[in-house]
Amino acid sequence: MNIPFKKIVLLWAVIAVVSFQSTFAQEVTKITISKPEKAVEVSPNIYGQFIEYLRNSITGGIFQEGSSLSDENGFRTDVLEKLKALTTTVLRYPGGTVTKIYHWEDGIGPREERPARRNLIWGGVEDNHFGTDEYIKYCREIGAEPYIVVNMGTGTAEEAANWVEYCNGTGNTYYANLRRKYGTEEPYNVKFWSLGNEEAAREDAGRLYEPEKYAEESWYFAKLMKLTDPTIKLFVVADPFKFDWNDPVLASLSPIVDYVSLHWYVGNSPDDPYAIYKNITRFDTSLTELGDYLQQFPAKVENFSKWYRFPPREGAIKISVDEWGIWDNTCGGQYNLDCDYTWKSALATASFLNVFHRQAENVTMANWAQSANILGAILANDRGSVEQTVYYPLQYFRQYVGNQLLEVDVENMPFIAEDQTVEALDISATYNNENDEVCVFVVNRSYEEQTINMDFADTKTSAATLVEMTAPNENSRNAIGQESVVSIIEKSVKKNGAINLAPLSINIVVVQ
Ligand code: AHR
Repeated sequence: MNIPFKKIVLLWAVIAVVSFQSTFAQEVTKITISKPEKAVEVSPNIYGQFIEYLRNSITGGIFQEGSSLSDENGFRTDVLEKLKALTTTVLRYPGGTVTKIYHWEDGIGPREERPARRNLIWGGVEDNHFGTDEYIKYCREIGAEPYIVVNMGTGTAEEAANWVEYCNGTGNTYYANLRRKYGTEEPYNVKFWSLGNEEAAREDAGRLYEPEKYAEESWYFAKLMKLTDPTIKLFVVADPFKFDWNDPVLASLSPIVDYVSLHWYVGNSPDDPYAIYKNITRFDTSLTELGDYLQQFPAKVENFSKWYRFPPREGAIKISVDEWGIWDNTCGGQYNLDCDYTWKSALATASFLNVFHRQAENVTMANWAQSANILGAILANDRGSVEQTVYYPLQYFRQYVGNQLLEVDVENMPFIAEDQTVEALDISATYNNENDEVCVFVVNRSYEEQTINMDFADTKTSAATLVEMTAPNENSRNAIGQESVVSIIEKSVKKNGAINLAPLSINIVVVQ
């Protein structure tokens, strides 16, 4: 075929324009931020933490008597400062699986008189020198609300109610007086109480893995605990995927339960480098489904018998992701609980936090598991401590998150080049009516730079700040005694101009 030269040039020009347009279309992602029709509050309690009597999570982690790094309480000051810097809102305690054998009275009174006990769940011996009073003091130091999980395994309902009295009692009664005797006049006012932990797990030392049995026992525990303090909020064990557990549990307990408690850990898989993100997306979807499911329990409980002598639940049942984090067999130690988190773990952590923002209507509490050493955001040993990579999204998202959820519309979402099912960008946005600030949280999970163009309705300034977190590569990690691999920089950007997001980066765009 003989094509004249002019036609070839024209054809080339057309191809060039089309391919330029499609390249441009592929490269620029348009993000439109707007106010949702219905206002949704973002609860600060999604930035909680969790500690457990599990090897060096508490003793040797946040608490180490006799160490030059500890204060007069035995609190490791270096770890304390790092937890304070996270502005942790809730601190869940004392477990975890260990709650099935933990007796709180072992942990009160003069430290030298407290009994040392075998930790039947995780091994080792607990000297119980960090007990309820130390825990509450710790919560006060870091500014977190206490949240206690009671023992429904070897413990009794009466023991749980006595714990409520020890913490919250105001009268002239035995356990309230015991608290006074041990130095604290004012009640601790612990609001959040969980009825057990992962009770559905048959392999654990518990005995309540039949949902009907759990519901029956929970009623008994709840009655004695609520009769002790009717203002407490109760959490029951649920599962994002097992409705044959959730159905009977909630059919029975819905009049008195304030939160359903979920646990969700994600990890890397040797077969699929993007499994960690897929697992987070799966969880996101399940939260929407569980949120819809919970709608069947009306916010106002009708026909609650006055003979219970305490009030029913007030308000809708909410979801608490009581334990979440990253746990896989790339971690070392027994049960793979010793994790040196990589930068990829930080990208996954940031994606998880975006899920909690987006799910603000359903999820009103979430606790990263755990604070120190065991699956820890912080590593501590006798010589010092360090923030792991995952610490930084926890810190910065908390610092910038607003109190109202914003809607995010994305045009031209890029996918991770190697896996066209995983979105390269993970996004959420919030507004803070206290400082009039909009923040857009964007995780770039791809190995390529991505360009975004934002459209903000109702914002005043043309300038914006980009807080950008990066690390040398996805396997970079922090270690005690070494400089952090994480680089955090602030850049001025144009609110409505193109913003380049570095490969494998966590970004917060801040607009007034
Ligand atoms: O955080 C470690 C363990 O993970 C907790 O004890 C348990 O609740 C969960 O399975």
